[in-house]
Amino acid sequence: MLNTGHRHPRLVEAIQRQLERFTHTAYQIVPYASYIELAERINQRAPGRSAKKTAFFTTGAEAVENAIKIARAATGRPAVIAFSGGFHGRTMMGMALTGKVVPYKVGFGPFPGEVFHAPYPCAPHGVSVEDSLKAMEHLFKADVDPKRVAVIIFEPVQGEGGFNVAPPAFVKALRAICDEHGILLVADEVQTGFGRTGKLFAMEHYDVAPDLTTMAKSLAGGMPLSAVCGRAEVMDAPAPGGLGGTYAGNPLAVASALAVLDVLEGEQLIPRGAALGQRLVERLEALKSRVPQIAEIRGLGAMVAVEFRRADGAPDAEFTREVQNRALEQGLLLLSCGVYGNVIRFLFPLTISDAVMNEGLNILADVLTR
Ligand SMILES: Cc1ncc(COP(=O)(O)O)c(C=O)c1O
Repeated sequence: MLNTGHRHPRLVEAIQRQLERFTHTAYQIVPYASYIELAERINQRAPGRSAKKTAFFTTGAEAVENAIKIARAATGRPAVIAFSGGFHGRTMMGMALTGKVVPYKVGFGPFPGEVFHAPYPCAPHGVSVEDSLKAMEHLFKADVDPKRVAVIIFEPVQGEGGFNVAPPAFVKALRAICDEHGILLVADEVQTGFGRTGKLFAMEHYDVAPDLTTMAKSLAGGMPLSAVCGRAEVMDAPAPGGLGGTYAGNPLAVASALAVLDVLEGEQLIPRGAALGQRLVERLEALKSRVPQIAEIRGLGAMVAVEFRRADGAPDAEFTREVQNRALEQGLLLLSCGVYGNVIRFLFPLTISDAVMNEGLNILADVLTR
């Protein structure tokens, strides 16, 4: 599921080497050079031309929490705007930002205040870019003064929400709204980052730079590490000691992340992922005429999903579960997503061999057409 696969030998070697040196110092107390090296490499590669800084944490949710803390400190403003269908983690602020009630929010409230949701553009659900922007305008009239908004946070491709790809016009408009009102734009790239969409970061598909980017998951290839990278003056806003954590930027995870960057580049995994994604899309397109439930095939690079609907157009969660169960019987694990649970998302590692990919595609074709 992670981009560099399971126990990549270069990662194992890097972790073993670090294991012989030290496993923990708590970076804020005793800093180490590898943390700086990784931060510098991410600063160079993250979207946006301005000078950047990076801070490391442990989980994706923690990166999101810290992005909000940093943005509030930098702007002196409290409010946050997120999107329906968005997923940002299972901590209190993560849940507040998440725009999917079942299963993430049921029974866990109350959540932090000053969080507002706007609809994310999603053509199959009848939400256009204009609809989404109009709803934000309405939010600014009815609920929150834009001058009190610190952050607009969004996923360039929604993960849990159904692999909905942000239209370029939407991303441009978000940047314009942020610039007009002094709001910071946060791209949550926890799922899209590190090669999943055919670029190192999904925001490279857009001619727009966020102020802050959150990352985790494939960043360290399975070791617990997350990061916030952003414009240097924004990152410098919190007071010393305000950010961090005992295990934040753990040395074993940092060693693994440095190896991830080497492997992505050395093995050309990012173009390979894009090519594999294309192959999957073509295979699904070819099945469309035989599987009437296929309503849409969408994605970016290797981040591909297929949405199922009934003949009357209603989301078909039942068929989705059936496909998952049939696939599992044949050893193919498929994950669903989407607010209605009627989307299957594909999360193969970019290191997958052609033979295993073909085996998976054949099982998929078999279970879809049975
Ligand atoms: C976009 C996005 N943000 C945040 C998170 C939370 O990450 P974690 O599970 O590491 O806390 C996820 C996890 O799926 C995610 O996809």
